[in-house]
Amino acid sequence: MLPTAQEVAERAARVVIEGVRAALASGRTEPVIGLATGSSPVGLYTVLAGAVEAGEVDFGRARGFALDEYVGLPPRHPESYREVLLREVCGPLGLPPERLHVPDGSGDSEEALAAGAADYERRIAEAGGVDVQILGIGANGHLGFNEPGSALTSRTRVKRLSERTRGDNARFFDSLDAVPTHCVTQGLGTVLDARRLVLVASGAGKAAAVAAAVEGPLSASCPASVLQWHADAVVVLDEAAAVGLANRDYYDASAAGL
Ligand code: F6R
Repeated sequence: MLPTAQEVAERAARVVIEGVRAALASGRTEPVIGLATGSSPVGLYTVLAGAVEAGEVDFGRARGFALDEYVGLPPRHPESYREVLLREVCGPLGLPPERLHVPDGSGDSEEALAAGAADYERRIAEAGGVDVQILGIGANGHLGFNEPGSALTSRTRVKRLSERTRGDNARFFDSLDAVPTHCVTQGLGTVLDARRLVLVASGAGKAAAVAAAVEGPLSASCPASVLQWHADAVVVLDEAAAVGLANRDYYDASAAGL
């Protein structure tokens, strides 16, 4: 729990940098970062860009795997997650565009999309798995675009977006009607395979979802509750996002270290 958005971004960026260093120290020459889109990680990416400039970390030999992509947007649509990540991550962080992987949302049939999703799982496996996965959380508790009800062991696949999510994301589009109805998202099982998870959330709109994810039952009704199943998951929150947590004092004391 940190007082400002800047501190949230800095703390989360530390986790990412440590994850990359741990991967390199374990002999992985091409560390793999899992990339979320949306508003939550924007500050974190800015801090990482500063760390690259300062020579603290280098993403030139890293690989980036996006969490999700919309289905059916025209190629090069500015709100497709491929374009967002090229703009907000590849350029600023020096991650070569050919090292960015994004699920393929261009298939024109369920079969084509399913084949693309299976190929995405293969590519993650071939890269040796994700070393550190950056995550946001939906106001409805979704993780990636795994909406409430998603199987806890799910893999990359097509999902329908909930109307709540479409409404939340309408701010990036000209109108609600322009928001796609479907996506291809890493599954909850895919996310859980990452070696380290870091979830960032800020604002009162996330407080209920954060409380359900961190302190509620492990349940498909709150997909982000799968974080409780992961041995190395860090949740970085601002004050407003943390207000629903009953054990907050304990988390603050733990975060202060030994
Ligand atoms: C983004 C993603 C989503 C977002 C979530 C929060 O790739 O998978 O789970 O992290 O919808 O979005 P923001 O950060 O815009 O509130």
